[in-house]
Amino acid sequence: METVLSGIRSTGNLHLGNYYGAVRNFVKMQEEYRCFFFIADLHSLTTHPKPENLHDNIRKVLSEYIACGIDPDRATIYIQSDVPEISELYLLLNMNAYVGELERTTTFKEKVRKQPENVNAGLLTYPVLMSADIIIHNADKVPVGKDQEQNLEMARKFARRFNHIYHVDYFTLPEPFNFGSELIKVPGLDGTGKMGKSEGNGLYLIDEPKEIRKKVMKAVTDAGPDKPNAPKPEPVENLFYLLRLMSDVSTVAHFEEAYNNCTIRYGDLKKQLAEDIILFTTPVRERILEIYNDDEYLSRVVRNGAEKARESASKTLRDVREIIGYKGF
Ligand code: TYM
Repeated sequence: METVLSGIRSTGNLHLGNYYGAVRNFVKMQEEYRCFFFIADLHSLTTHPKPENLHDNIRKVLSEYIACGIDPDRATIYIQSDVPEISELYLLLNMNAYVGELERTTTFKEKVRKQPENVNAGLLTYPVLMSADIIIHNADKVPVGKDQEQNLEMARKFARRFNHIYHVDYFTLPEPFNFGSELIKVPGLDGTGKMGKSEGNGLYLIDEPKEIRKKVMKAVTDAGPDKPNAPKPEPVENLFYLLRLMSDVSTVAHFEEAYNNCTIRYGDLKKQLAEDIILFTTPVRERILEIYNDDEYLSRVVRNGAEKARESASKTLRDVREIIGYKGF
């Protein structure tokens, strides 16, 4: 049976981009594959969270995973820092990862541009840690959004390089995955770019209805089409993208037609979009709160997850140490 793995950083609550780009696939894949889904709390350290917040950040994402439908009895759900084998594999992989290639990754260059005051070595080697996450379970498929494509390429590169250096065919080369189609990028509400945790343009699963209405009503648009069948500018296309995700086909067709014959009122579209988002998020939000408050359940999930993940990870690490040449005395 093929192995699936994916993770989400515990730097904030889950937004619709995380859900549609990644978590929705996790839920479907757990039916058919051997699945590992984890919370990337080591990766979250690149943003320097305060010790008093770290644990709660993890607890939130864990509750959100389960509320979205990831079933701890089917998939292995665990916390990255509970599996020290990952950190050791990361160290070993770092020896064959070159500073030049790491500096050239788009996400690193972006961070350097956006936060020149905090260009830490963890950011530089971020793709190496991600590779360790993936190959420690020899994952075949990695459900992720479009923004992770380059990191997946790096994971394949490091896996291939390890095999090459040690003349083995040990690591599987992992493939990014999205059910039935290409990887996706869910746009934000600010007119350009993707929905993201650090972009401040997200709609979160935990958002209250009034918050969702407020955010959607404030979304960037334009003055409206000035001729029939005009192409949509990016902010408008983004709203339609969200509408296609959240609303039924007849609603989408209605607003497409209104756009094409220049009778569209963005206010109406936004109201409908907000209500359709609320319809989806309300039961999820209720489940999140229920799970978040269930100490006993969460600690059982985390303990079981760590045990299963370590069983798989320690086997890989034993093999890797042997391949590299470590021997017992
Ligand atoms: P993170 O926490 O930023 O995002 C988690 C997942 O959500 C996807 N995603 C999106 N998909 C579509 N549209 C969007 N606007 C959008 N925003 C986020 C991401 O592509 C991702 O799949 N480095 C990773 C976490 C990670 C990981 C791994 C993932 C650590 N190790 C190993 C896979 C395998 C990250 O920061 O994702």
